[in-house]
Amino acid sequence: MHNFDYQTPTRLIFGKGVIEKLPEVMKQFGKKVLLTYGGGSIKKIGLYDEVIKLLSDFEIFELPGIQPNPKYDPSVLNGVKICKENDIDVILAVGGGSVLDCSKAIATGAKYDKDPWDLITYKAFATDSIPIVDIITLAATGSEYDCGGVISRTDTNDKIGYMDRHNFPVVSFLDPTYTFTVSKKQTAAGCADAISHIMEQYFCEDSNMLNDGFMEAAIKSLMINTKKCLDNPEDYEARAEMMLACTYGCNGIYSLGNSKSGWPLHGMEHALSAYYDITHGEGLAILIPRWMNHVLSEKTVDRIIKYGINVFNLDPNREKLDIAEDTIDLTFKFFESIGIPMYLRQVGIDEKRIYEMAEHVQEWEKLDNAWAPLSVDDIAEIFKASL
Ligand code: NZQ
Ligand code: ZN
Repeated sequence: MHNFDYQTPTRLIFGKGVIEKLPEVMKQFGKKVLLTYGGGSIKKIGLYDEVIKLLSDFEIFELPGIQPNPKYDPSVLNGVKICKENDIDVILAVGGGSVLDCSKAIATGAKYDKDPWDLITYKAFATDSIPIVDIITLAATGSEYDCGGVISRTDTNDKIGYMDRHNFPVVSFLDPTYTFTVSKKQTAAGCADAISHIMEQYFCEDSNMLNDGFMEAAIKSLMINTKKCLDNPEDYEARAEMMLACTYGCNGIYSLGNSKSGWPLHGMEHALSAYYDITHGEGLAILIPRWMNHVLSEKTVDRIIKYGINVFNLDPNREKLDIAEDTIDLTFKFFESIGIPMYLRQVGIDEKRIYEMAEHVQEWEKLDNAWAPLSVDDIAEIFKASL
């Protein structure tokens, strides 16, 4: 087991009705609140009105309209401007991962006197930030419990994932009932995103029984509970379990002590959404089986079949290659069964920019250092196989 130094400072407040604690939580941080949200789902589900009512003693400024794959310009820049002009004390992000990631970039950008893009691209490092409280309404990214953020720039086709300890929310409210209205498409994409986060940690050189068992159980739970959520969107227990599995997904807890994997799936997917603005989880689901197939080798086969045997209960007493092929096939079929379009063409991506995207991946992510190293040609082949 490798050494690690781990801390997650985020307080999780989980369950039905926990929002009643919002005023008490918020008042620790001050009176001036920047309320950030997306395209209107929080209004449709009545959460916006609930928040405004609970925060009647606070001075509220608003940043609405944050899009999926949140954009640096205008959302991050507008948020930074509001914070600087009004001396905001605390940001309340209400929505999915996009709203929260945008809020993370605003929180550090507001305490930085140059271009906030520097902080996203590691040209500079934040020294301060505005505290972030969030109410997450979509189970997927795990942004509510991690220090990652992902910001897109349409002018340069960049979608950058970065980590900064200032990005940890101080408090995350997780009420599974807010996810009852998440569409089938986003429920399935959220499941694929969370499964990919686990796979990114599972497929590595050194792991152990504890972490493997934790991750295999989480993938099984996501597979079973996502299907329940799709059949009955108001199944509280299924939504709750899905939410918790997603929350753990990206903060490293699944793989403490493991060796690094390089997160190749995310490296590749971010290029797809940067160029074509597709749904993150769908891009990942399309890439996963093609990536597994591409990296299958003598070196990787044991890990791939361990996942197949333990997640899909495959018979271990067969040829390794047969087990690996079934594992990849069942992974593809699972995503297909929850309604994910499994070909890039179905989400509007053709062969035209494949090589350009592959080069762009390597520029930011250096996947030649991954568990199964990928060159630009490898990435282009995986994209082609996904068409
Ligand atoms: O914009 P609104 O109207 O709120 O609608 C959203 C949006 O259209 C809707 N939605 C959210 N909650 C809802 C709801 N609809 C009905 N009922 C609800 N309760 O869902 C749509 C998608 O929302 P979005 O926030 O984009 O989805 P998600 O949470 O999957 O976030 C995706 C973003 O997070 C990044 C992705 O790359 C992508 O940009 N990621 C962030 C990570 C992190 N910070 O750790 C890790 C991930 O790997 C990921 O890269
Ligand atoms: Zn992801």
